[in-house]
Amino acid sequence: MKNLQIPSDASRLPVTLPALAEKKRLGEPIVMVTAYDYPSARAAEAAGVDLVLVGDSGAMTVLGYDSTVPVTLDELLVLAKAVRRGLRTPFLVGDLPFGSYEASDEQAIATAQRFIKEAGCDAVKLERGGSSVQRARAIVEAGIPVMGHIGLTPQTATALGGYRAQGRTAERALAVARDALALQAVGCFSLVFEAIPAGVAARVMERLEIPVIGIGAGPATDGQVLVFHDLLGIYDGHVPRFAKRYGELREQMVAGVASYASEVRSGAFPAPEHTYSIDEDELRAFEAGLDAIEG
Ligand code: KIV
Repeated sequence: MKNLQIPSDASRLPVTLPALAEKKRLGEPIVMVTAYDYPSARAAEAAGVDLVLVGDSGAMTVLGYDSTVPVTLDELLVLAKAVRRGLRTPFLVGDLPFGSYEASDEQAIATAQRFIKEAGCDAVKLERGGSSVQRARAIVEAGIPVMGHIGLTPQTATALGGYRAQGRTAERALAVARDALALQAVGCFSLVFEAIPAGVAARVMERLEIPVIGIGAGPATDGQVLVFHDLLGIYDGHVPRFAKRYGELREQMVAGVASYASEVRSGAFPAPEHTYSIDEDELRAFEAGLDAIEG
């Protein structure tokens, strides 16, 4: 790809909450991507994105579960720590996994604190309105920035009738709007809108002062987020309609491993340039010594 303006690592300042708010004020689109390990974090850093989410989508993209529901807090913390080691400038958000925050405010605060203390995240994200609004309030009051996530919330997809767009009737759209306003009112610094009709997202945006990051919510949001493996074509599972592909890396990965396998089988690899040498005299002395060893 040519003519891409990639900010050099050294010239970029770490992204802060005031910087994100300022971007919204100026109408500058906010770029968010998920990451789950050191290499994906390094790619996000080098590409100059604003926000990185250690999403519970990692349950599927890197851990191989068939939904986000089974992933544990400890599993996500391992991923978040690796991402932290690879990032310097983007604002880092950790995703609270299903079952790690719903039971009580105390549980929600304790889980959020682990993302901050152990993994070095800057903020956490939780799904849904309803009872999650109170959990968001509690975490914010404990001094941890919270990003809300409404619309299609994969952790509760079964209750929503499956992985489908939300807010497609006036009643359901009003529920989305109420959740958005409630999460803003308890102090969320930002929201994710997932799989919401563009017209609904645009109207709710008019009532929001905090930055909204969309995924399948149309162009009116303040920014966009995509799952790293969807945007680069690494994941071979279902890819949602809203995920645009900017690469086909899985094809390259399979082709690379297949070439390697073929060269090992044909003897073409390793070649002399992949091999260490030893001085001839040393080799002869070694051979003589080896002959003297019994067994
Ligand atoms: O887990 C995730 O990747 C997410 C994004 C889709 C926002 O929640």
